[in-house]
Amino acid sequence: MPQRPSPAEDLALWTAVDRYFGTRVGDSDATLEAALRESAAAGLPAIQVSPLQGKLLHLLARACGARRILEIGTLGGYSAIWLARALPPDGRLVTLEIEPRHAEVARANLARAGLADRVEIRIGPALESLECLAAEHGPPFDLTFIDADKSSYPEYLVGAVRLSRPGALIVADNVVRRGDVVAPPSDDASVAGIRRMADRLATDPRLSATVVQTVGVKGYDGFALALVLEAPSASAT
Ligand code: SAH
Ligand code: DHB
Ligand code: MG
Repeated sequence: MPQRPSPAEDLALWTAVDRYFGTRVGDSDATLEAALRESAAAGLPAIQVSPLQGKLLHLLARACGARRILEIGTLGGYSAIWLARALPPDGRLVTLEIEPRHAEVARANLARAGLADRVEIRIGPALESLECLAAEHGPPFDLTFIDADKSSYPEYLVGAVRLSRPGALIVADNVVRRGDVVAPPSDDASVAGIRRMADRLATDPRLSATVVQTVGVKGYDGFALALVLEAPSASAT
């Protein structure tokens, strides 16, 4: 029996395959590379989506014809650049970030990408920003990317649904976490948040969802994708 590859061998292979397809379809460029460089130079953690994952978000946004996009968890604006580039010139990305230092780096990266006019960074706890957005009664969002603290994912999902148009797509990052989601019960607040979100995806009649497990340069993880359905009719509630 051939030996199973070690975790280090797995990651090396997944990284090589990410690099291979990155050079074929990845579309990274000097602006995105500069955003990564500036984020690293500012000491931000390198936990942004991978280039191919960024391209996936970009393509999903274009496939949705998204004109208004919501992001929860900005970091240095790397995923925001991918998403905002999918918008028409009069489109808008609203991205929520709790760390002023992260928002500052993101602002510079988005400005360098020529996207400052299309992107609004809201600094503060995302739950509070979501409340403000709801109170403002602005136009609904076509796409939401959830990528902040995992412990609040279920609340972010509820907030995103409330701000979405029927037919909108909601994408959540890091729902697999090396398989931790099915590991024995633990007191890990992130795992608990992902599980509570999964329970909500299972039971919310306004959502139809799936999960895509992923491997690559970021290891083993996954995305949840949920479609916001028409509001259930009065007779069905
Ligand atoms: N989407 C980014 C990565 C986001 S990392 C990318 O792929 O490029 C997660 C971010 O969420 C961090 O910047 C962190 O500061 C932020 N965050 C954590 N808790 C938050 C909260 N309660 N409200 C808003 N942002 C939060
Ligand atoms: C972490 C957060 C993320 O959003 C991610 O994609 C990877 C790691 C983290 O907090 O460790
Ligand atoms: Mg993430």
